[in-house]
Amino acid sequence: MQVTIDGRIALQGEVLVPGDKSISHRAAIFAALAEGESEIRGFLTGEDCLSTLACLHQLGVAITRDKTTVRIQGVGLTGLREAENVLDCGNSGTTARLLLGVLAGQPFFSVLTGDASLRKRPMARVTEPLIAMGANIMGRAGGTLLPLAIVGGSLQPSHYHTPVASAQLKSAILLAGLYAEGETMVVEPEQSRDHTERMLAAFGADVSVAATAVTLHGQPRLQGRLVQVPGDISSAAFFLVAASIVPASDVLVRNVGINPSRTGILEVLQAMGATLTLYNEREESGEPVADIRVQSAQLTGVELSGALIPRLIDEIPIIVVAALFANGQTIIRDAQELRVKETDRIAAVVEEFAKLGASIIATEDGFVIEGGQQVHGGVVNSRGDHRIAMSLSIAALRATSPVTVEDAHCVAISYPRFWETIKTLQSDDK
Ligand code: S3P
Repeated sequence: MQVTIDGRIALQGEVLVPGDKSISHRAAIFAALAEGESEIRGFLTGEDCLSTLACLHQLGVAITRDKTTVRIQGVGLTGLREAENVLDCGNSGTTARLLLGVLAGQPFFSVLTGDASLRKRPMARVTEPLIAMGANIMGRAGGTLLPLAIVGGSLQPSHYHTPVASAQLKSAILLAGLYAEGETMVVEPEQSRDHTERMLAAFGADVSVAATAVTLHGQPRLQGRLVQVPGDISSAAFFLVAASIVPASDVLVRNVGINPSRTGILEVLQAMGATLTLYNEREESGEPVADIRVQSAQLTGVELSGALIPRLIDEIPIIVVAALFANGQTIIRDAQELRVKETDRIAAVVEEFAKLGASIIATEDGFVIEGGQQVHGGVVNSRGDHRIAMSLSIAALRATSPVTVEDAHCVAISYPRFWETIKTLQSDDK
């Protein structure tokens, strides 16, 4: 599938972004491991989260779904059963890595695989600490790539210092820690998103956080509950940047999760001079939420590095788009994790934006972008990466002629109605 975007039309109106991807995965997994029924409202029905539901179903969990409301009959920590077939995580790193943590605690055999992109992504960061806790894991490339076969067992608790700030890695160890007797502790070099800690505590686990260390007491009884999933700030980010860079735009993005471990994008856009106003700040299921109004503004370049990077790692491709149209230079450092996302996002951004006439310098761990660039029309390819597809199409809104994005279906991984939402914001009859 390909989509052609006509730019240079002001964006106006309201957007209700879909549910948060990270929170939707966790809600489904924790509900499965809890006792009793859970109801998840505002669940992201993107392909990644549907992969998680399908894997849990294969592991013996009863799940029903009506649009974005999901009901899960929890089986308790020890109630999963061996799947009859391979568990396919599709494109979803979160599904693969979090389920590895769960399966490390199961006394049965499982095989996890994924699509061509996921089969290239590093798994050793997760399998090594799980093997050290007592899981048996074998797989391709010395057990570092999917497909991976796993037979869990009786696990030892872990005190682990992660080499990278990764919420998927942290969560995998904490999930395995649910099955170990005693205290499991994960210490990160910088804090990654903390949805697992928050939600495990809400389901009844004993979790404590001190700076970048999370401690969990093993073998809790988790209780099913109601979870209201906020809108995904990583999806909102595309419209926050779009309305900033397209002149005369004024957009209200409703129901956006503003957990501080995710709000790096808001701080960066504010530092760049964006006109953002937060309204109606509230809390839903232990997560802070707000409505965000954005009006177009001339942006200025910034420098990003260090502890800020994990707080906006998924937003870097769209921050590059903001930087292209800003005054002055933007430098992004310490973002080498981008090389192991759904694609090598540093290479993808540089090469695909070059097709529209943009000049972006790649570094080992980020980018140097001169602002004030003009982008022309052309044909670009998402490389099957949802966030690359959406970033290219937002840049297209400032292009001098139409841009065609090939392999555009992949937006369905995290934002199934993305193309319709652009059209609605561009239309006069709202
Ligand atoms: C996620 C963590 C991040 C992020 C991904 C979702 C999560 O990945 O990029 O989109 O839900 O835990 P890493 O854990 O690899 O940093």
